[in-house]
Amino acid sequence: MFRRNSVNISLSINGTKYEADVEPRLLLVHLIRDVVGLTGTHIGCETSICGACTVMLDGKTAKSCCVLAVQADGAEVITIEGLAQNGQLHPVQEGFWEKHGLQCGYCTPGMIMAACGLLKDTPNPTEEEIRHGIEGNLCRCTGYQNIVEAVKYAADKLKAQA
Ligand code: FES
Ligand code: FES
Repeated sequence: MFRRNSVNISLSINGTKYEADVEPRLLLVHLIRDVVGLTGTHIGCETSICGACTVMLDGKTAKSCCVLAVQADGAEVITIEGLAQNGQLHPVQEGFWEKHGLQCGYCTPGMIMAACGLLKDTPNPTEEEIRHGIEGNLCRCTGYQNIVEAVKYAADKLKAQA
């Protein structure tokens, strides 16, 4: 149904096409979670500070609380749910599993998406580059060390697969 003041948008999320009539003020993260029902993308602050809402938007990481759904019209979005393929964890997900890169897990989907973005641009990162690459994502639990180890694991695994 076309609501007053709504805008029709279509976009791809994890390879599936979606079309929706949305209010111009709707945030992309609310579209992903509340309209499409993919709740793996978390909301921490809604003010671009924590990174819990990080997704890939046309191949670049983006904090989806800082993007309007209408700005994503025609875009390709990848969320945490889109990383595993054929029942196999993505190397970054595997790294977090193997290196205990999480405790409560609240930051984890955004942290993993940020790490994917980092490794896409910098496949062989130094520890400093890893820390710089995830500096927009806050974790209140882990102290970051195991997250850094997880990203190193993923970088090695991706290199071995190349
Ligand atoms: S919820 Fe988007 S940066 Fe915190
Ligand atoms: S694991 Fe709890 S906030 Fe990061």
